[in-house]
Amino acid sequence: MIVPFYGHLRQYHGIQAEIDANIQEVLESGQYVMGPMLSRFERELAEYHGMKYAIGVGNGTDALWLAFLALGIGPGDELITTTNTFFATAEAIWIAGATAVFVDSDPQTNCIDPSKIEAAITPRTKALVPVHLYGQCADMKAIREIADRHNLLVIEDNAQAVGARGGGFRIGELSDAVCTSFIIQKNLGTFGDGGAVVTDHPQVDGMVRKLRNHGSDERSCHSMGYNSRLDDLHAGVLSAKLKHIDQWNDLRRKWSARLSAGLKDARHITLPCQTPGYHHVFHLYVIETRQPQHRDPLLDFLNANGIDAKCHYPIAIHRQEGYPWGKPARIAGPIPNSERNAACCISLPMFPELTGEEVGLVIEKTLEWDRTAG
Ligand SMILES: Cc1ncc(COP(=O)(O)O)c(C=O)c1O
Repeated sequence: MIVPFYGHLRQYHGIQAEIDANIQEVLESGQYVMGPMLSRFERELAEYHGMKYAIGVGNGTDALWLAFLALGIGPGDELITTTNTFFATAEAIWIAGATAVFVDSDPQTNCIDPSKIEAAITPRTKALVPVHLYGQCADMKAIREIADRHNLLVIEDNAQAVGARGGGFRIGELSDAVCTSFIIQKNLGTFGDGGAVVTDHPQVDGMVRKLRNHGSDERSCHSMGYNSRLDDLHAGVLSAKLKHIDQWNDLRRKWSARLSAGLKDARHITLPCQTPGYHHVFHLYVIETRQPQHRDPLLDFLNANGIDAKCHYPIAIHRQEGYPWGKPARIAGPIPNSERNAACCISLPMFPELTGEEVGLVIEKTLEWDRTAG
């Protein structure tokens, strides 16, 4: 048996009639860019978040930097985030011309550690960019408090946690904008690239709408902008999938609980932590080997036994070759937790359409390695 890492095709087959119907509707509408399906999906996405506005854009990276620009962020501004995230979080800061400031992550959740933020704040700090890593919200209450004390903006990188909730807060409630990605493998993913900004601020909504469409919100009238729109075909796929997202996230939670129960006695790995009261949606199920030198042997063992495990993210941003490519960047304080996470992380297969048999094999093989590891 081979246990794949992704279940895109299984997901398509599960709701094929709904997706096909929406694609057909778009094709027959004759409107493929900024058409009625995009408007419909934007309404549905805003409503799903309990927020006023959602703007579909080309991808999650664009969602981030378009939100930064709409909030007036630019050269000279410092944005605080973490190095153990997908590269795009920092890339978007640089595309906006701002400075990326990296602080350490929390040793349990691997999201930004709020207790490390204040020491990194300077008069140039403009915003905090927490990433809801692996499907679990960062500690937004603590982050909001810091932002209020220092008059900072907060932009949530929510590429990995659509449908998650924090303890007593929902995504978007404590920030200025939420940015998400719909690339194929995300919890809410299309058959290609896509992204969105979700916000309650009318001026952010208006500005992102203009920026994504050549600086235009009226035919033939332009200011400086870009081309970054979510196509209607993708909006149709996403509209069909949005109706199932909570049920799919529940399945991810079920498989995660089964993995954690099965692996709880393993001696050489630590299991993902769920902050009490938080609703983790397990975009990824990431274990860590207790010893960095165990990571590659375990990964190789799983792969050799038909389990497509991967790593997110084995090379932290500041360890990438050529960092920071002439871009403004600063590491604030030691970042041992982010370094440990990069050295020890392994993502086990995690998607809603897994089977009990597949999850059983992942547990069996991980334990088999654990018994023999020295
Ligand atoms: C945390 C994070 N931020 C940003 C992105 C960028 O999204 P995209 O690939 O759609 O540009 C991703 C995903 O790819 C991500 O995981």
